[in-house]
Amino acid sequence: MPGRDIAGLVAQMTLDEKAALTAGIDTWQTAPIERLGIPAVKLTDGPNGARGFTHGAASQSASPSLCIPSGTALGATWDPEVVRAAGAAVARQARDKRARILLAPTVNLVRHPLWGRNFEAFSEDPWLSGKLASGYITGAQSEGVAATVKHLVCNESEHERRTCSSEVDERTLRELYLLPFEIAVREANVLAIMTSYNRLNGRYLADRSDVIGTIVRDEWGFGGIIMTDWWAAASTVEAAQAGLDLEMPGPGRAFGPALAAAVRQGAVKEDRLDQKARRLLGLFDQLGAFDDPAGLPEQPEDRPGDRVIARHTATEAMVLLANNGLLPLDLSQLKRIALIGPLAEKPSVMGGGSASVLPHYVVSPLEALKDRIAEKVQLVYEKGCWLAESDAGAAADAARSREEKADAIEQAARVAGQADVSIVVVGTNPYWETEGRDRETMDLPGDQAELVEKVLEANPRTVVVVNTGAPVTLPFAGAAALLQCWFAGQELGNALAAVLFGDAEPGGRLPVSIPERLEHTPAFGNFPAESSSVRYGEGLLTGYRWYDARHLPVLFPFGHGLSYSTFELGLPRTSARRLPVGGRLEVEVDVTNTGPRPGTEVVQLYVSPSRNTTPRAHLRAPKQLKGFAKVRLQPGETATVRLELVERAFAYWDVADPEFARLLSRLARTDGDGQSTGLHRQKAGWYVDPGTYQLQLGRSSADIAHILEIEVAGSPDPLPPGAALG
Ligand code: BGC
Repeated sequence: MPGRDIAGLVAQMTLDEKAALTAGIDTWQTAPIERLGIPAVKLTDGPNGARGFTHGAASQSASPSLCIPSGTALGATWDPEVVRAAGAAVARQARDKRARILLAPTVNLVRHPLWGRNFEAFSEDPWLSGKLASGYITGAQSEGVAATVKHLVCNESEHERRTCSSEVDERTLRELYLLPFEIAVREANVLAIMTSYNRLNGRYLADRSDVIGTIVRDEWGFGGIIMTDWWAAASTVEAAQAGLDLEMPGPGRAFGPALAAAVRQGAVKEDRLDQKARRLLGLFDQLGAFDDPAGLPEQPEDRPGDRVIARHTATEAMVLLANNGLLPLDLSQLKRIALIGPLAEKPSVMGGGSASVLPHYVVSPLEALKDRIAEKVQLVYEKGCWLAESDAGAAADAARSREEKADAIEQAARVAGQADVSIVVVGTNPYWETEGRDRETMDLPGDQAELVEKVLEANPRTVVVVNTGAPVTLPFAGAAALLQCWFAGQELGNALAAVLFGDAEPGGRLPVSIPERLEHTPAFGNFPAESSSVRYGEGLLTGYRWYDARHLPVLFPFGHGLSYSTFELGLPRTSARRLPVGGRLEVEVDVTNTGPRPGTEVVQLYVSPSRNTTPRAHLRAPKQLKGFAKVRLQPGETATVRLELVERAFAYWDVADPEFARLLSRLARTDGDGQSTGLHRQKAGWYVDPGTYQLQLGRSSADIAHILEIEVAGSPDPLPPGAALG
């Protein structure tokens, strides 16, 4: 039973025992101390399943796991409740694998389309990422498993990932990249944090007391454990002082015996080590891990209820990008369907690297469609082209003659031309989107773009399904119907069939902008890295903030996604026209399903400082997402959506300049030479400037239905510590 006297237990431990606790004993377990009944506690990856003991790519020797949709798919649900259920399902699998600490979720941001691990992350937007991560964490931790929010921080490229330094200014760090971690700590009480491989402005995160100590523990009040990414520990003394608790994997090199030696030499106080031991043992106790029977084998269970969760999450994630009325398909009007593309037979249900699991099973679109249409309609499948799954496969594909390729594409086009409707599934796979390597291009690999072009020529009644974890070039955006299905987990096929035939809504909205071209993207020119550093030169203007500020067109905007029904957003109301200091404000809007079918709408609330009246508005993104709600409505039904705003929604991080007054006093003259005295604060913090702000309510960052203006009182003082996040 939880509730042990942890301080008492630590008091009984020798220095070596306490130090042993701070490093793993192997790849996945902490060190047991049998003398005192302290168990080995097992950790497992996350985020889209519970991997269990194996390392590297999912191998046949791995024990199977539920495979839920990957991060960007979860991001596309725009629904913390859906993500909560998915997080809980993964945590149940973690328990089956005898693990108590789940290495998920990943809350780094989708900064550039070519980051190899985009599929693991939720979104380009930190607010959406943080809120969905909170759902995941709450779900996972409700099953007696500690979630681990990772990777702190600015781990948004794979290039030289263990040495590279992310060069980020403090304001951008606070407002964007730290925000999902802050929400995870302050709102969801996440129990563990993993530091990243990369350095931040030159120094490793595990060593940075200014980040893991001052910000994470002191400001946010984080009481859980902080661990390294695998083999990412870089120092003993610095990391020990900074507040790192656990080096993984073991045996320890920086911690463990090395930490004991540092304490003996007086370089680290024993108190520090005691703190770490208390935090680790306190967590184990809270989780109930002391009572776990030792040595039990992994016993994965394929639960029917979790299958339903995996399928529902996948349909809630699918984003209908375009539709000229072709979808949903009406089986009674069809005689023959052509299904095309290598991924239709072997879909990508997850990305590559540590997130990969051996799924309990995978339902392909081919199997699911066969099942769904039974004998009613003829289904013809053609691969059309190849999608490499390894370096050797890519080489074989390159070596294939131009003619064995053209034939396959022509055959697919012929089959498409003879069908009433064709469905072509294209995308990437865990070879093309993986941890450890960034993508080289946004284009679809192999001959898939050509395949789609030829199929569309042969049959304009074609649905293009995009099976990727991150945005890809979509030269066929004008297709009759275009569906982004992501890496949708083991139930991908069933979920896709349900959406295609209208059994389920395509419930997703884009958690990322889909650019017209790579050259338009915010981090273009600053990605991946040069001379061991990756410069976050776009600063605050990531994702839609960038396209808005630069007036750049996108192919599909952040937040976009069509329903099979139609909706009206009524005139929004606010509980007050002025937000006082320390106050809250409620925004209400009626949403009506005006179409003939049940459907889903996602109301999005963006805050925009008015350029005319708010000081320093030009230093801010044109608008930022600060609220959202997903509603499911029957035809004709109306629901009232309520969103709450607090001062933090209007705040920005001012790095301040305590040196300014001193510098100014040294100047010979202070008038008329452009020197201003007004904009320099002494103290860094979250500040709210008084002024008029727009509340923009809409269906995407580019589709704003209503704009309201409110006054915000603001204050010359920073927000108090612990001010609500909203
Ligand atoms: C990844 C982490 C993962 C760890 C353990 C690392 O390579 O960056 O996300 O949790 O391995 O597999």
